[in-house]
Amino acid sequence: MTTEESATGPTTPDQPLADRVNTRSRRPQSAAFRDFVASGWDRASAGDAQPLPAAAWTPARREALSRSFPGERLVIPAGGLKVRSNDTDYVFRAHSAFIHLTGLEQDSEPDSVLVLEPTEDGHEQTFYFRPRAGADTEEFFSDSRYGEYWVGPREDLATMEARTGIACADIREAPEAITKDLGSVSVRLLRGADTVIEAQIDTAREQVAADLEISLAGDDELAQFLSELRLIKDEYEIGEMRRAVDITRAGFDTVVASLPRAVAHARGERVIETAFAQAARSDGNGVGYDTIAAAGDHACTLHWIKNTGAVADGDLVLVDAGAEADSLYTADITRTLPVSGTFTEVQGRIYDAVLEAADAAFAVAAEHTRRPVVFAEVHDAAMRVIAHRLADFGLLPVSVDEALAPTGQQHRRWMVHGTSHHLGLDVHDCAQARADMYLGAELRPGMVFTIEPGLYFKAADLLVPEEYRGIGVRIEDDVLVTEDGVENLSAGFPRTRAEVEAWVQGAR
Ligand code: GLY
Ligand code: MN
Ligand code: MN
Repeated sequence: MTTEESATGPTTPDQPLADRVNTRSRRPQSAAFRDFVASGWDRASAGDAQPLPAAAWTPARREALSRSFPGERLVIPAGGLKVRSNDTDYVFRAHSAFIHLTGLEQDSEPDSVLVLEPTEDGHEQTFYFRPRAGADTEEFFSDSRYGEYWVGPREDLATMEARTGIACADIREAPEAITKDLGSVSVRLLRGADTVIEAQIDTAREQVAADLEISLAGDDELAQFLSELRLIKDEYEIGEMRRAVDITRAGFDTVVASLPRAVAHARGERVIETAFAQAARSDGNGVGYDTIAAAGDHACTLHWIKNTGAVADGDLVLVDAGAEADSLYTADITRTLPVSGTFTEVQGRIYDAVLEAADAAFAVAAEHTRRPVVFAEVHDAAMRVIAHRLADFGLLPVSVDEALAPTGQQHRRWMVHGTSHHLGLDVHDCAQARADMYLGAELRPGMVFTIEPGLYFKAADLLVPEEYRGIGVRIEDDVLVTEDGVENLSAGFPRTRAEVEAWVQGAR
């Protein structure tokens, strides 16, 4: 990796620490260099810029937002670059609400902000971002965070306008635009994305003696609205979910093919993790969340993302992975694979119980065409099966009815997580929605969620016979609610015991 050139020359003992970060080499200072580096570049404006794939869909989303908050200024930041260490940043990933409203993709657009300014009959929408700098600027050749020479070309205002379909302005105008007239205009800010903008707005609120508690409650309402706005996916989003599932499907083939290498490697779980990452990053934007590659007892650690373990031939390995498309929509799939290619009798018994729970959840979701089905019923259907099978295994200390009662719930010892969550731009999508819009909501066409029951018998669990200990199974599919029932978006994945065995055996 190269480093930014210092403007100040070699470090001296009295040089402030902050200035020493880029003292590894010296930037040319001569007028001759500046003239020469600014000249001779083919930097034609991209006048033929194509609209973003989502650009036909985002106006309706912004209009819904505008209608819900008449007369108020609405500020939706993308977020900024995050330092990983010293002078290296994480790859940028904007806030999902911002992506939903602008249609931007991949690593666009750090430090930008969408502002809806109230007008007589709605809002004027402006996207503030850092437009590309001229080749004659210092930024062009010397700014390792934003400069074109370092991080590649950026859009000018006209190009960004053509791509997003939103009027654009220079980010340097944003502080004034978002803080002006707060005595007469109320502002709502999507918090949690950009601390700089939060500080600007909160300071401006203090200056007009706004009631901070009321302001923060207003901000929360905006976050809730933007979360609930994503509960029903439009056709474009459904297409992107299909794309994410397709990339993930290919990634799981890569994972299965990597199993012999995983067994041979001391940290076989990392072999699996990186096999998936290679597919997700090659064909999509990357992984939508950290991959869980959990062999043996690690499968019973629900968010096992260290992935440092070995993968033994007789183990089950639980792989929970999802690729995020360039549009930033993600899949979320789990398959539990017998490394040897064959489930043992007890592994198979547990697998079939989990599969039956998943099937019951699918079946109740499909009933929405005949009667209203609320989201929580999907989980309840899976839990009835789990409780019955645990009783069959002789593990429940009470009757099935006692366990299923709210005062019981003993079966949840072996599945403490929920069965379903909404899925979309975030793996746990729509997380700021109200309970009656989420768990208590009726299933409606366009909803996308997971069905992911599991059973987890930890190696340290003294309440199960030894043969169960160190076995964890989860089966997770991605589901679209349709007019006719439900569609399993991940139907292309091997799912039954026989299908999964054939899949693994085929790669051995
Ligand atoms: N991978 C996270 C989840 O399944 O919810
Ligand atoms: Mn999930
Ligand atoms: Mn998952």
